[in-house]
Amino acid sequence: MYYKRRIKKGPIIFIAIFILIIILVICGINLYKYYTSDEYLLSKAGYNESEIQSILKFDEKYITYAKEHKYEDDFIPLIKEKYFLWKNYDEYIKYIDDVYEDKKVDYSKVISLVNVGANYEPYTHTKKADMDKGYAILVNKYTSLPEKYAPDDVVEMSNWYSYPGNSIRKDVYDAFKEMFNAAKEEGLTLIVNSSYRTYEVQKEIYDDYDDNRGREYADKYAARPDFSEHQTGLSIDIFSPGSNMESFEGTDEFKWLSENSYKYGFILRYPKDKEDITGYNYEAWHYRYVGKDLAKKVYDSDLTYDEYYAYYLDN
Ligand code: DAL
Ligand code: ZN
Repeated sequence: MYYKRRIKKGPIIFIAIFILIIILVICGINLYKYYTSDEYLLSKAGYNESEIQSILKFDEKYITYAKEHKYEDDFIPLIKEKYFLWKNYDEYIKYIDDVYEDKKVDYSKVISLVNVGANYEPYTHTKKADMDKGYAILVNKYTSLPEKYAPDDVVEMSNWYSYPGNSIRKDVYDAFKEMFNAAKEEGLTLIVNSSYRTYEVQKEIYDDYDDNRGREYADKYAARPDFSEHQTGLSIDIFSPGSNMESFEGTDEFKWLSENSYKYGFILRYPKDKEDITGYNYEAWHYRYVGKDLAKKVYDSDLTYDEYYAYYLDN
């Protein structure tokens, strides 16, 4: 006997509707994913495909920042710079707009200058030094000591190590003696010419330059009181006997210091060709104590201390 099977339509319709709903939900989820994806939001912000791929290689916080900031031509070259700091992004853009106009932008220089605050005139945008940083403290034309600051562990230096009248913080003295002895073993003689300076002494030095050579000259060679590393008791000016500001760079002692001072905790603070970053003329004689570990890091980085501090320590 032949039975015509009666097909019940109810369950089929139910299954079809169910499948349709599933398909719609999947499509909806995919559309939602697409419209909220990094790729889509970055393209909406104005980046092209290759720029999007570059941005996507960065951390999530950078991608978020990129999504929230409208496209700028300078954005990609800036974020590719090693010392790029997100907190300075608006300042980089402003500085580029103010200074470069149609000129080719030196992004690395922009990053260095803005990071250390040198996009502003010296002494116009100043803040207080972070004293909690100890021997890593930064003092420069944008960062001042507390008013008339004076360290309380300054000791007198013997005339064996320095010209008369020098004093320095105890730990710096010990580090200098170690360095002095190491240099001596190689037949070299270091001598401290200037060291800890009180607020009053630094003021006298600065005012003297200012009165005799004018303000521009004074600012290249001396720090204003409360803005000098000498007032921290962590900096020393080193010569070899008989040498001076002009001749010291040509001595074996200078060469030795350039290669070895970091091993004893000292860094060359105002290097050659970095005048626009440090704000000072090249000083082959001015060494700053930061401690051995940090000195090695700064030496290896090949950065000025201003740049190193801004990138690695100012947080
Ligand atoms: N010569 C250095 C910059 C000072 O006066 O502290
Ligand atoms: Zn000095």
